[in-house]
Amino acid sequence: MKKISIILALLVAAITLVGLFASKFIDSAKFTSVQTSIDSGQGFSFFVISDPHYLSDELHDDKEAFQKFLSYGDKLVHYSGRLIDAVTAEIAREKTDFILVTGDLTCNGEMESHKELAEKFKRIENSGTAVFVVPGNHDVLNPRARQFFENTIWETDYITKDMFADIYGDFGYNEALSRDKRGLSYLAAPSDDVWLLMLDTAIYKDNIKKNNPEVNGILEDSTIEWIKQCSELAKENNAEIIAVMHHSLLDHSELVNLDYTIQNSLEILELFADCDIQIVFTGHIHLQDIKSTSIGDKTIHDIATSSLVVYPNQYGIVTYQPDEGYYYETNRVDMRQYAIDGRIKDKDLLLFEQFSINFFVAHCCESQNQCIAAMDRLTEDELSKVRDTVSKMNMRYFAGLRNEMINDLIDTEGYRIMETLPPCFIRDYINNMLNDEISDHNTYFIPVE
Ligand SMILES: [Fe+2]
Repeated sequence: MKKISIILALLVAAITLVGLFASKFIDSAKFTSVQTSIDSGQGFSFFVISDPHYLSDELHDDKEAFQKFLSYGDKLVHYSGRLIDAVTAEIAREKTDFILVTGDLTCNGEMESHKELAEKFKRIENSGTAVFVVPGNHDVLNPRARQFFENTIWETDYITKDMFADIYGDFGYNEALSRDKRGLSYLAAPSDDVWLLMLDTAIYKDNIKKNNPEVNGILEDSTIEWIKQCSELAKENNAEIIAVMHHSLLDHSELVNLDYTIQNSLEILELFADCDIQIVFTGHIHLQDIKSTSIGDKTIHDIATSSLVVYPNQYGIVTYQPDEGYYYETNRVDMRQYAIDGRIKDKDLLLFEQFSINFFVAHCCESQNQCIAAMDRLTEDELSKVRDTVSKMNMRYFAGLRNEMINDLIDTEGYRIMETLPPCFIRDYINNMLNDEISDHNTYFIPVE
């Protein structure tokens, strides 16, 4: 009898153990085995490219309809391919380990643009640098995908969520340790020590029904649960996680944050603090800006890299040194050198900086210019002085410069005229630039904790 009870007890214990093992196995079965190319203890570097907004040359000529489209925006969409090619040459020169692309890969989600961009990324991978992408609000199920010929704008094919994962399979999705079931988020491990949480914050499922692409972003409850599992797995493997997403986690401006910062940012900040996620690379706002905040004893940094197709046409370079931390800096794409190297006789490329400034001033300050034009108590001469000061300040703002880095522009006639005006958006906008947390958002250091 005693023998039977011992056997029974052993059997129960064995079943319990098998059960425990099975439940553990089922949990981790969602994750594929960890394969990295950078060994533990080894430093590495990567580029961060934001909002390249690539438009295929097959989808436009340079005639009336396209010129009109360009004039409504702030993006050098017609040079998006050239800019990516120039960065590709810089990647090959620097031999950076991998690149992160923080969404808005395409102009308006055109299938042709996505396919061609994937070809360009393939060339980057062929030169030895891995590419990891996430979608932005322009990329998936975008009913505004268009082509432009002569004086007519035509619809063109857009892509679905599954097509995105398929087209960019080699750039994150096929090599993921885990994919979130809901959207296009995934976990990747280029290094033993640092893993990438590539998050899909875009909201696209009802875009076609509404005939309007949703601009703002969110991380849904099911994705939050998946992030917790990713964090556990990373901790089990002694890896640290950095996050990458299109929308802002922190407000990058007190005035302009609606539709830019994800809807549930406070909840996600708490989540990141619990999961020890200290750094998030973002895009979307098209300006160079870094913000940080404390949650309990943790500090979380949101590094927004400005859009590749907007002045000053730059990208981020991050150097990671174990036991030290992350060094972030920006680098402006050298389009002039790219044109010289490729013997391209395009004067806009050979004088690219000035060309990009002219385009920025003419198009990017449109909303500010409208505000200035409404100041009917000013003379034409005064208006032009205000316009001049505001566009120069805005250029520096987009380039990541604040406070004393724009102080010289306070000493202008345009600024003095603005100070005499009653409270208005443009004055608040400028004051915001002059009272920021940091002065230069182009270099940043985050120590390891
Ligand atoms: Fe964008």
